[in-house]
Amino acid sequence: MLETGRIVIAGAGLGALYAALELAPRPVLVISPEPLGEGASSAWAQGGVAAAMAAHDTPEAHADDTLLAGAGTVDPEVAAMVTRVAREHIIDLTELGTPFDRDADGNYVMSREAAHSAARVVRVKGDQAGDQIMQTLIAAVRAAPSVQVLENTQALRLETDGEAVTGIWITRADAPSAPVLIKCPGVLLAGGGSGGLYAHTTNPPRIRGQVIGFAARAGARIADPEFVQFHPTAFDIGEDPAPLATEALRGEGAVLINADSERFMVPAHPDAELAPRDIVARAIFAETQAGRRPMLDTREALGFEVQTRFPTVAETCARAGIDPVTQPIPVAVAAHYHMGGVEADMQGRTSLANLWVCGEASSTGLHGANRLASNGLLEALVYARNAAQDIDRLALSKDAAEVRLEFPEGGQELDPAAVKALREAMTAHAGVRRTAAGLKQALAAIARLEDDQAADENFTNMCATATLIAAAALRREESRGGHFRDDFPEADPAQAHRTRITLDEALAIRAKVQEELT
Ligand code: SIN
Repeated sequence: MLETGRIVIAGAGLGALYAALELAPRPVLVISPEPLGEGASSAWAQGGVAAAMAAHDTPEAHADDTLLAGAGTVDPEVAAMVTRVAREHIIDLTELGTPFDRDADGNYVMSREAAHSAARVVRVKGDQAGDQIMQTLIAAVRAAPSVQVLENTQALRLETDGEAVTGIWITRADAPSAPVLIKCPGVLLAGGGSGGLYAHTTNPPRIRGQVIGFAARAGARIADPEFVQFHPTAFDIGEDPAPLATEALRGEGAVLINADSERFMVPAHPDAELAPRDIVARAIFAETQAGRRPMLDTREALGFEVQTRFPTVAETCARAGIDPVTQPIPVAVAAHYHMGGVEADMQGRTSLANLWVCGEASSTGLHGANRLASNGLLEALVYARNAAQDIDRLALSKDAAEVRLEFPEGGQELDPAAVKALREAMTAHAGVRRTAAGLKQALAAIARLEDDQAADENFTNMCATATLIAAAALRREESRGGHFRDDFPEADPAQAHRTRITLDEALAIRAKVQEELT
């Protein structure tokens, strides 16, 4: 055990690094599972950051679109606050050096994405927003003496006194080791979502719900875990994770077709390819299930320009031997974003004292049942700053020695077969379309796998989040946004509210299911 005066930030994506800079000169310790910049979901974001920057646009219109996409469970006060401050964060990121795309007059170039009533997504080099913002933040963090980064380490468990967090257990991420307890004045969780709990995902390989899982195990209340967003257009080229074909392509006029060259979104929704993401995802899923091979066709809308305006997409096409100028791109749905997470108030405070959360690990009420495109990075920025300001009120010392760690031998390698089985169970039974029978099978499978791997705490954390998703999905007997129940296909106005659940409650649902199935 060792003790530090530093705030510990678990995670090293956009929210984590932005918060670390906001907290300067207060000393922080960033727990980064990989070398900085590698393996964070934020760096993989292609679209950009949603913000009403255009002259004709307003935060109110942005908030209205957020509410509409969220399918009845967005917190309107949260949407109003986040969209109001969006502009100042874009300006701050610009001042830090983010090379946002500008037109000849210096105005931000805005992309259009689904369910936005205006072109409202600031972008970098077409489809490289996440990577470029991260490069900017990494350079600033490297230059900030108050920020210590521990690369190749991961958080495993929170230490509490029952009500307040008093420390965090961390371990090596690149090799097995026994965990070490760091006692600290506070912890900010910023370690991403849960996409990798599914067999098909756009998330980096290490993002498998661990942060939500260990917070839930410590007793933090979880909100909306059943709401998982599936991206409609992940490349279907056999790669894991599946590369993204950004929604901005559809914003530029790319269309969805099937093997019979039918534009199946036209009869499905008045906004066709730009319908809310959950609707497009279910339509793509239906085409895949029916064996009609859905594809994204950029040929007419972009022609040769796809190469220069969407370099990341073009690079993936080249790797897969697809020429997007002459061929449509095969696509499939993939778990992309978790609307649910550790419940956070407007300051990023959780239900446990001395524990804050920002980014995809959190559930703030902004996304409701279906996140509006490019509101994810925005939420991470806003709550990283809000949480940092709240933490700042602790008036901690501005001096803290560097943390020096030696990890004892021990620990355990993740069992890849168990991880694969967990991901397959989630995709088969807690995915795009759900039923009570399937969700019960998922819960039973998670319990079995968790028992088999009881000695591996990292895996236990994944199972905690998987249990929360499946249990809350079983409890919500209706369809709303990203949560679709074949046995309850309509939205029920009486259930138009957020879910709050603890891990104990989810485990009780799981135990009841196990009893029923034996
Ligand atoms: C995309 O570029 O399609 C993804 C944007 C997002 O998930 O917000």
